[in-house]
Amino acid sequence: MKARKVSDGVYWMGAIDWDRRLFDALISLPDGTSYNAYLIQGTEKTALLDTVDPSRAEVLRAQLAEIDNINYVIAQHAEQDHSGSIPMVLEIFPQAQVVTNPKCKTMLIDLLEIAEDRFITVQDGDILSLGDKTLKFIYTPWVHWPETMVTYLEEEQLLFSCDFFGSHLATSDLYADEGNIYRSAKRYFAEIMMPFRTVIQKNLEKLNKYDIAMIAPSHGPIYLRPQFIMGAYQDWVSVDPRNLVVLPHVSMHGSTAKMVEHLIGALVEQGVQVMPFNLVVADLGELAMALVDAATVVIGTPTVLVGPHPLAVYAAFLANALRPKLKFASIIGSYGWGGKAVETLAGLMPNLKVKILDPVICKGVPKTADYQALDNLAASIATKHQEHNLV
Ligand code: FEO
Repeated sequence: MKARKVSDGVYWMGAIDWDRRLFDALISLPDGTSYNAYLIQGTEKTALLDTVDPSRAEVLRAQLAEIDNINYVIAQHAEQDHSGSIPMVLEIFPQAQVVTNPKCKTMLIDLLEIAEDRFITVQDGDILSLGDKTLKFIYTPWVHWPETMVTYLEEEQLLFSCDFFGSHLATSDLYADEGNIYRSAKRYFAEIMMPFRTVIQKNLEKLNKYDIAMIAPSHGPIYLRPQFIMGAYQDWVSVDPRNLVVLPHVSMHGSTAKMVEHLIGALVEQGVQVMPFNLVVADLGELAMALVDAATVVIGTPTVLVGPHPLAVYAAFLANALRPKLKFASIIGSYGWGGKAVETLAGLMPNLKVKILDPVICKGVPKTADYQALDNLAASIATKHQEHNLV
């Protein structure tokens, strides 16, 4: 694909990775992704803002073959899906210099072995003039690495946001279709940004001081209406969760499955929304998305070798790592002769500042008293949600 014009002197470059299905050997990409670079041509200088994943370097090389010169390669983030082709660009344009912040410079030297004399470092708020175009660098730490920054093209009020506001979506659309992009952007937030939602709140406040006409992220399409994605982020990082229970579960011989089925019905009767995820087949990205809004997580697990099922361990580990705005947690499940499934799972979630509601653990198949205990758990969850005015 060739470069595509965004505005006078500003072009999208990069690659659409239609077939990629896994990121960091961890995050599933059901809709592929893109690595967006941007060419900014001023009357005096030309800058390339970010590059592409090394696996797509040749696509960028073909686009750059149409360009006379690059003076600056701006690195907003050291992760290799954006920085990994910087060495190639420096090889093609031997006079080009890498413009980045000191922390990112150190990481780029560590990760890519770029020579120290190729760098120009900038501080928060520094300006780089390209002639008739002015770039301002704004530090936005922890979206989602410590060195991340964004770049504001003052004359166009155009914000290049790198991972911030991005989406893993392969599409031929240069601009976001708001009807389609929401779920991709939310999934991206859930999987990548949610652990940093407190600092993201601060970065949103920092960006709110700027007049922004367009947001051009480094993954997914460009936003012509910035308030759409900035408003969504504001909602996702807000303090209050919704009246929602997320219920990841796994069952070996059906007893825990019966408990899960009963709890779902009891929660519905109590007016609580519930999203169950059978961990044997669940898309963990969908689970992460559900955790963005949930007030309560209940993990359903059988006891295996005196502990929780490994899939339940994975779910607890994931919830703990993503640090969603959960307020309550509980555990339900069945055991055969003993074990420490509850203690083990609860111990895996120290990052979650949640109140643990009484677990319901039964021996063998659930019986009348166990179903009553599940009804009580549902009632307790409903009461807690009402006390916090969750809707
Ligand atoms: Fe898209 Fe953090 O790299």
